[in-house]
Amino acid sequence: MTRWTDTAGQAGEALIARASVRYRAADPFAVHFARFKLRNDPVFAIALAQGLIPDGARILDIGCGQGLLANWLLAAGQSHPENWPPGWPAPPVPRSYLGIELTPADAERARAALAEPGPWPAEIRQADARAAVAEVAAACDLVVLLDVLHYIDRPAQEALLRDALRCLAPGGRLLMRVGDASAGWRARYSRAVDRVVQWLRAGRTSPLTCRPAGEWRALLRGMGMTLREVPLPRDAHGANVLMVGTLDTQAAQTGQAENLAAAGELEPL
Ligand SMILES: C[S@@+](CC[C@H](N)C(=O)[O-])C[C@H]1O[C@@H](n2cnc3c(N)ncnc32)[C@H](O)[C@@H]1O
Repeated sequence: MTRWTDTAGQAGEALIARASVRYRAADPFAVHFARFKLRNDPVFAIALAQGLIPDGARILDIGCGQGLLANWLLAAGQSHPENWPPGWPAPPVPRSYLGIELTPADAERARAALAEPGPWPAEIRQADARAAVAEVAAACDLVVLLDVLHYIDRPAQEALLRDALRCLAPGGRLLMRVGDASAGWRARYSRAVDRVVQWLRAGRTSPLTCRPAGEWRALLRGMGMTLREVPLPRDAHGANVLMVGTLDTQAAQTGQAENLAAAGELEPL
């Protein structure tokens, strides 16, 4: 099976190196983890190769871990156009990035890697997204939820999704990857890998709450999202589904108004 690094060639290797080296400001584990993850988990390459991140987006990255996405985008901005994978569109330049991360060590790693002022503002909040997302007052254009929702229980998953979608400006986008609990042994394998990574990164494991992909789709559609799915290679994260959702304009306007009302600025629609 062809890996993304084969087709992206030297420019892909340079991107991985550029993003990973930023973690020297954190610790050696963070550097190695970044290198390993960016190479072996194709989602970051797919996001760029398929233009899944809108240009000029205000990004809200929930459960951002050590902030790989932000560092990947910074590396992309530095690499383009001189050293850029063939066939990839120009990388997006975000307007801003806000990462929310529960695990203090990971939030610290993300902060260290993003400490030097870049071309766009980047902030990391160490907080429990179940409470913190409801407190995000600014609108965003892209909500990112990569491999996060299964760490919280079912009612919290629904509440967090609602809070996250409320932050989206009209036309805003959701980039979400979740496990597909109906994927049999691949789902069980994925969960086992997850526990190991969780233990390595945070020194703890917690129960995982997974749903079949069909249930995730129904949940998001019920919240006013139009969905499409982006195929992932089967070798990596075989039981996972990458969904790109767009919020219907009316749903977005209602959510925005509720948010402002919650912040005391506006009455709900
Ligand atoms: C598998 S990692 C994915 C990290 C990142 N999204 C990425 O793709 O590199 C899941 C992350 O979600 C974080 N997380 C889990 N529950 C959370 C919560 N309630 N609030 C904020 N972050 C949470 C974990 O600490 C972990 O860093």
